[in-house]
Amino acid sequence: MNILAIESSCDDTGAAVVKDGREVLSSVIASQVEEHILYGGVVPEIASRRHCESISHVVEQALADANVTLDDIDAVGVTYAPGLIGALLVGVNFAKGLAFSVGKPLVPVHHLRGHIASNYISHPELAPPFLALVVSGGHTHLVNVKDYTHFEVIGRTRDDAAGEAMDKAARVMGLPYPGGLNMDRVCKGGDRKAYHFPAPKVQDNEFDFSFSGLKTSVINLVHNLTQKGEEIDVKNIGASYMHTVVSCLCDRTIRAAKEYRPSAIVVAGGVSANSVLREELAAACKKLGVPLYFPELRYCGDNAAMIGSQAFYEFSAGFTAGLDLNAFATLEIDADTK
Ligand code: KG4
Ligand code: ZN
Repeated sequence: MNILAIESSCDDTGAAVVKDGREVLSSVIASQVEEHILYGGVVPEIASRRHCESISHVVEQALADANVTLDDIDAVGVTYAPGLIGALLVGVNFAKGLAFSVGKPLVPVHHLRGHIASNYISHPELAPPFLALVVSGGHTHLVNVKDYTHFEVIGRTRDDAAGEAMDKAARVMGLPYPGGLNMDRVCKGGDRKAYHFPAPKVQDNEFDFSFSGLKTSVINLVHNLTQKGEEIDVKNIGASYMHTVVSCLCDRTIRAAKEYRPSAIVVAGGVSANSVLREELAAACKKLGVPLYFPELRYCGDNAAMIGSQAFYEFSAGFTAGLDLNAFATLEIDADTK
């Protein structure tokens, strides 16, 4: 079964053709990053306009790269939540028009389910159940993935997402957008123990996260150094900060693994590209004896291939949408199974 998938939840316009949920026949991304760099972050209005301009070409290119025509497509998958609402609406409306015009089923896909599915592309042997750590720009969740379409959130951030905490820290240190990515590039190899940041404490749920205090402490450190006219040791501050964020992610993930005893741990979302997370979580999982999966780097960030993969499983479970499909800025990953 060939699915043409569309992703436009943030600042990447993506289209892909994916066969049977696992084989990527094509994946095209039109990135807007150069434009958003000018503003230090994504400007939603600009993102929507750029999606409008790019989406037809990106879809045409995805079909051409896969060497297929619309006749070879069995369903159209699209990200419908969560994300920037104006950006999502461009993809959703395009997908609706396309599905209607060719008389093919329309499959709505939750963006974070798509991130988890990026691992199905990279690891053919991987199948649920497993424990997933979802770390993106806007979300940080520990998810019990019961099967391809059944999810249970067992831990979440109480405030900022891990990606957001990295982005804000990078920005205060003068690194360009996207901050997390640039902090990883610039601070890799720095001294992780050079600066001490307080480990956040979360009451009640031992699997929940909190990053806002950590973010404030790095902002205060940089402001204090600036006021004293001292140089900002970006490499070592960034390395220490990334290590602290990653330690929190690893700590909660390992705690959850000890309780839920999953057969595998899967990491998903933009922050899954982080080199420190890859290294430190691998060491922790090795100690625990649990297999650990990360997506390939090209599928860590937003892309439509992961949406095409998840769309296959949503369709197989009978989830399709009518032409009244709407987009939603927020939607729980387990909204339909709660
Ligand atoms: O999943 P994603 O591409 O978009 C959302 O769904 O939010 O995640 C974007 C986030 C940004 O915060 C970005 O800075 C972060 O992922 N990111 C990284 C790295 N690459 C991207 N954070 C840390 N290290 C990286 N290598
Ligand atoms: Zn994403």
